Amino acid sequence: MSSSKERVILVTGAAGGIGGACADLLLHEGKRVCAADLKPFHDDDVHADAEDTLLLQKVDVSDAASCKAVVAATVARFGRLDGLVHMAGVHSDHDWRELEPEQFNRLLSINVTGTFLMAKAAAEAMRKTGGGSIVLTSSGSVNLSGHGGDVNICPAFVTSKAAIIGLVGALARSFAPLHIRVNAISPGATDTAMTASYDEKAMRRLSKRTLAGRVGTAGEIARVASFLVSDASSYVDGQVIAVNGGDTFGA
Ligand SMILES: NC(=O)c1ccc[n+]([C@@H]2O[C@H](COP(=O)([O-])OP(=O)(O)OC[C@H]3O[C@@H](n4cnc5c(N)ncnc54)[C@H](O)[C@@H]3O)[C@@H](O)[C@H]2O)c1
Repeated sequence: MSSSKERVILVTGAAGGIGGACADLLLHEGKRVCAADLKPFHDDDVHADAEDTLLLQKVDVSDAASCKAVVAATVARFGRLDGLVHMAGVHSDHDWRELEPEQFNRLLSINVTGTFLMAKAAAEAMRKTGGGSIVLTSSGSVNLSGHGGDVNICPAFVTSKAAIIGLVGALARSFAPLHIRVNAISPGATDTAMTASYDEKAMRRLSKRTLAGRVGTAGEIARVASFLVSDASSYVDGQVIAVNGGDTFGA
């Protein structure tokens, strides 16, 4: 890998809450960043006073050609790829009665297949320069033991984020000979657009589940992503790291 200062990191979901915070933090640390998302960027998504070190790209992670194209654009601009922080994803609160097969499959194609396609495209580039680090995203919602009976659980979302736990292990093993580490972050409830639809009662309940007594901030997730793409985590591989304020240990 290149020296930590020059490192090139691709962040997906970067027009969203957590991905945007990851791109911001990595830029602040001096990394070169490709910030990619399906939706257009606004000025306050990524603090782009960093023209030389920031590339903004459109990507649809459920499309293999689009994943390859965003990696190719990153390498064309910065010459290499050292890290992937894959935060792109969609949420749903449809319960089992409302969930149609098309919706189920579409969600899996973004959250699961999209994760695989993005990791695969990134690994193809990383292998050419001696390795790298990939960070995927699961979710605390996989741990259903902490949910109260009043919660609207979307089977498609929970299934998609549980699948990432299997994918992390499979890819960590597959990419180890290429010197590419693969880990995932499992965020607890975090204050972003994804949780904006939750009412006050739901937010209070989610806060009470944690030892911290509150939901997380996007910046708190970003600091762990930054650690996982750095050499500081060189002996961390194949892990799912919960970043959730002690979720399920709370009241
Ligand atoms: N916010 C939370 O409470 C929470 C909790 C657990 C897990 N997560 C996970 O963290 C990640 C980031 O969530 P967030 O809260 O920042 O959500 P967010 O909605 O703010 O951001 C998600 C981003 O992904 C992008 N995206 C969606 N489909 C895409 C596609 N096909 N191709 C490319 N980009 C696409 C969206 O445009 C959006 O900008 C997600 O994977 C989410 O499931 C979030």
